[in-house]
Amino acid sequence: MKVTIVGAGNVGSTCAEVIATQSIASEVVLLDIKEGFAEGKALDMMQTQTTIGFGTKIIGTTGDYSKTSDSDVVVITSGIPRKPGMTREELIGINAGIVKTVSENILKHSPNTIIVVVSNPMDTMTYLALKSTGLPKNRVIGMGGALDSSRFKTYLSQALDRPANDIHGMVIGGHGDTTMIPLTRLATYNGLPISDLISEEELEKVSASTMVGGATLTKLLGTSAWYAPGASVAFLVKSILNDEKRIIPCSVFLDGEYNQDDICIGVPCIIGKNGCEKIINLKLNDQEMVKFADSASAVRKMNLAL
Ligand code: LAC
Repeated sequence: MKVTIVGAGNVGSTCAEVIATQSIASEVVLLDIKEGFAEGKALDMMQTQTTIGFGTKIIGTTGDYSKTSDSDVVVITSGIPRKPGMTREELIGINAGIVKTVSENILKHSPNTIIVVVSNPMDTMTYLALKSTGLPKNRVIGMGGALDSSRFKTYLSQALDRPANDIHGMVIGGHGDTTMIPLTRLATYNGLPISDLISEEELEKVSASTMVGGATLTKLLGTSAWYAPGASVAFLVKSILNDEKRIIPCSVFLDGEYNQDDICIGVPCIIGKNGCEKIINLKLNDQEMVKFADSASAVRKMNLAL
């Protein structure tokens, strides 16, 4: 199994590292436009093979797309990350051009690939990658919901003071500070509704922290986060390559689901070897449906800027 990661920056290289160290793929190609950068990262990671103990081959290239040929999955992380105080939406102009060119180049060498989009604003970039490649909708997936859900579960576990691995929860909607929807009503601690275990007020706090999860990190780090984003992509790639059919909230094209169409936005999906194999139709209550419609309006407005 071969995975290409376009963009060898913090998120791309962390993703490559997790994929390699967890032996999720046999080959990872890291591509970047900065001369020697991807080669350097690949070589550095390859020199951990014997100490960490993995067999995945990592290859770096400066813009040679022929090296990416026949990839099973391609992850697009390229573009500029946000700086403190910026919203993801402000990146649209520069990143749209990059994502469009990258998607087209990728497809020339890997016509059967599944594309995972990470570049921001993620929902709009996913829509753009889908439209510019003309790929079937199951093969273009935005990863925001996987990341936002991991942040949500972490904050829930801290509020409950219980292990994060016993927590289940999802974030749907757009991958934006004001558009994401942490589904507090449906979150559970080993099957127990979390809404029965902590106060409404605490749940509100968890939601608010989740929504600005990325912005909080950007402020602390001076640039966009990478450990959780990189690991979330690897988690998604693993479900595809191993055909695990996990339910992961992802940004995918809606065609009537959740009363929306012609938009890519976060909804729970079954992720397997064919990419998004099924969209799960959650029974949202009226309030959640209103939030989803508002989130979709904001994402749709952003798409108009393409
Ligand atoms: C974040 C970026 C990857 O949320 O969107 O950290």
